Amino acid sequence: MEKPSCPYHDPFKEARQKDGVLETEIAGEKLAVILGFKDVRSAARDYGTFSSDAPFRVPIPSEENARSVRQLPIETDPPQHKEYRKIVEPYFRRPLQKDYIASIEQLIAELVEEASKRDSIEVVSDFALPLQSRALTYLLNVPESEADIWVGWGVHVFREGNDNDPEKGAALESYLHQQLDRAEENPGDDFFSALSKAEYQGRALTRDEMLGFANLTFAGGRDTVIHSISSTIAYLSEHPEALGSLREDPKLVITATEELMRYISPITQIGRVCPVTTDVHGVKVPAGSRISLNWASANFDETIFDSPEEVRLDRKPNPHIAFGNGTHNCLGAIQARLIIRSLLKKLSELKSITKISEERSIEKEPDYERVLGYKELTVNLNR
Ligand code: HEM
Repeated sequence: MEKPSCPYHDPFKEARQKDGVLETEIAGEKLAVILGFKDVRSAARDYGTFSSDAPFRVPIPSEENARSVRQLPIETDPPQHKEYRKIVEPYFRRPLQKDYIASIEQLIAELVEEASKRDSIEVVSDFALPLQSRALTYLLNVPESEADIWVGWGVHVFREGNDNDPEKGAALESYLHQQLDRAEENPGDDFFSALSKAEYQGRALTRDEMLGFANLTFAGGRDTVIHSISSTIAYLSEHPEALGSLREDPKLVITATEELMRYISPITQIGRVCPVTTDVHGVKVPAGSRISLNWASANFDETIFDSPEEVRLDRKPNPHIAFGNGTHNCLGAIQARLIIRSLLKKLSELKSITKISEERSIEKEPDYERVLGYKELTVNLNR
């Protein structure tokens, strides 16, 4: 039997079961939050009614004060979206290559070996953050030393806690400009050079478009991956039997990764704008207002997932939508899955993981509180 899960994991349960929608305020904005699995999935596919063509307004809270450009390809609808997405897709598919997989496995092996030699390790800053940053240099094909700069930015590239930080946002943009200048002067095989050479509708990308792609690449895969790594390590410290199961059955790593992604759901929700007045389960959404697609609630929908509060590492089928669904499904999912699978594989070689201290990171809104990763997590990795 699993231990009872954290009470903050599925704060939407009551509203989901009762109404399927939560009419609430998030960061001062009135929103209709769609909660049921099938409803979230079909809304994610219905871009005519629920549009992503809304600069700064796809993330919740919105990001007008955190960046100066529209993020691409996420803040567009088809048909533009398809052509934009094609530009960066080859980079996001790099984690399917054999050599690439080996390099991530090697990176994780090094970090785990190093951490296990220490008395204890603070996972968020001294393990997850460098791992995410160094792995991203592989994805973007830039020198690994760039990760030293990125580590200095902290867990989110332009947020501090739950709030956007305009100064951090400006610092990120200035770094991205430098990289794009360098790539234009001296192009190579890296992500920034690919942007500087790319074409959209038969013309070169504008600098704002290049920045928009780069901004999302740095922001989208940051805290999400860091929370996934920390929460995975915390889970293994709380469930010592899981290490043994993963060791005995290496294939379990695949289903375990999906189940942890479902349970952690590192992005609670993402917004869409309704171009015309829309009725969402009886809630009237005025034209130009936003709704939320709540991936986290959908992933705990008891009509789809048997005992959703339980982590079952061998859960199958597991149609979770932690990486979104439909048009905008996550481009970084291949990278994120590779990191968590490789981490589970390497950690399963350990005797045990002992948790020493933790401070959970909590999303606090007027109508709900939800745990999302850790501010601090200190463990011993015992060989
Ligand atoms: C566990 C880690 C991650 C989670 C849970 C996650 C989640 C998501 C979700 C839910 C979406 C759908 C957005 C929507 O429908 O509006 C999305 C899209 C996206 N993600 Fe991720 N993501 C993760 C990691 C990453 C990484 C590592 C990167 C890049 C390095 C990344 C880049 C993107 C991009 C570019 C899109 C937009 C795709 C499009 O618009 O076609 N993500 N992600």
